[in-house]
Amino acid sequence: MKNFIIVDHLEDLDSESKYITHKAKDAANHAYAPYSKFLVGAAVLLEDGTIITGTNQENAAYPSGMCAERVALFAAASLHPDKPISKIAVVAKRKGGKEVLPATSCGSCRQVMLEFEQRQEKPIEIIMQNMEHHWVKAPSAESLLPFCFTKASLEHIEKK
Ligand code: THU
Repeated sequence: MKNFIIVDHLEDLDSESKYITHKAKDAANHAYAPYSKFLVGAAVLLEDGTIITGTNQENAAYPSGMCAERVALFAAASLHPDKPISKIAVVAKRKGGKEVLPATSCGSCRQVMLEFEQRQEKPIEIIMQNMEHHWVKAPSAESLLPFCFTKASLEHIEKK
């Protein structure tokens, strides 16, 4: 857990992290989650200060849905392909609720964050709430994926 910041209150994080976490919380109100009722918002902060939000988008054919983090990341890459991402915040809540629910990004979202990190050759900080209701700021996607599979893993196919 080296370089992880874990605090009791969001107020104890840096101002950019707080700001995008509020943006993620606002975005969660627009999630489409009629099946799980678990509304998730994500806010991506680009290096130039631009913020792109995303929400989970569910589907009657369950696997066709998409997590908020990936919706936000793919939108950011589509709209601003050359701007590095510095942080992403993820927040979950109930419909109409004010309370934040714990939501730590799933493995698929972490894997997508890792690819972004490697493309831009810069880490992405991840802000999320853990099961103990503490706010966690992870220093990178790589820090959340020990023994990760990356482009480098595929390069061994050429060497024999
Ligand atoms: N979900 C997210 O959007 N992000 C997460 O970090 C965890 C899970 C969504 C997927 C699905 O729509 C709902 O939450 C329940 O799993």
